[in-house]
Amino acid sequence: MKIIIYLAASANGLISNNRNVPDWLSPEYGAGFMAISQRTQAVIMGKTTYNILSPDYLPLKEGSLVVLTHDTNATPSQSNVLFTSDSPEKIVAALASKGHTEAVIIGGTQTVSAFMKAGLVNEIILVVEPVLFGSGLLFVDDADFEYQLALLDVKKLNNNTIQLHYEVKGKRI
Ligand SMILES: NC(=O)c1ccc[n+]([C@@H]2O[C@H](COP(=O)([O-])OP(=O)(O)OC[C@H]3O[C@@H](n4cnc5c(N)ncnc54)[C@H](OP(=O)(O)O)[C@@H]3O)[C@@H](O)[C@H]2O)c1
Repeated sequence: MKIIIYLAASANGLISNNRNVPDWLSPEYGAGFMAISQRTQAVIMGKTTYNILSPDYLPLKEGSLVVLTHDTNATPSQSNVLFTSDSPEKIVAALASKGHTEAVIIGGTQTVSAFMKAGLVNEIILVVEPVLFGSGLLFVDDADFEYQLALLDVKKLNNNTIQLHYEVKGKRI
């Protein structure tokens, strides 16, 4: 089971600004988001990210949309949404038992951090947008780990946006 993180970041590595308005994201980021969701048919996100995307911008009508939340009795906006408070290990095992071979984590910081801490992430795709945020959310937070990455690919997506594709190698802490 391959777990991939797909996120947009500012040039200084933040994944949102304090206005919390996604007006800095390029169409190329959006196209990549849809493409990887369609390819994997398994998308993992936190409840805050779900609340931003639901009901109109969730990336899959079929397949698996897994949403981390402690409020597992809430009513989802569509039938393929699963609200869960399971551990990252259990979530990955459940997706594998449904026949998925890949899943993509689309945010936000808490969710990315939980899977990185668990050592379950195989690849990271970072779309670096031409903005610099003085404050905002980090890619990962509240974690002591250190990972080595291997660069698999760099793509220029438009005049200002690049995509970095990494393989996650060993975890040091
Ligand atoms: N740049 C990008 O590509 C990108 C993509 C997506 C999102 N974002 C940004 O990321 C921000 C949201 O990030 P975030 O870190 O605040 O939130 P998040 O990870 O999307 O969601 C956090 C919520 O998920 C639930 N949760 C997290 N860990 C859990 C666990 N181990 N067990 C059970 N539930 C868990 C909790 O929900 P409950 O309170 O319901 O329990 C928590 O409040 C937004 O501002 C958004 O703009 C950026």
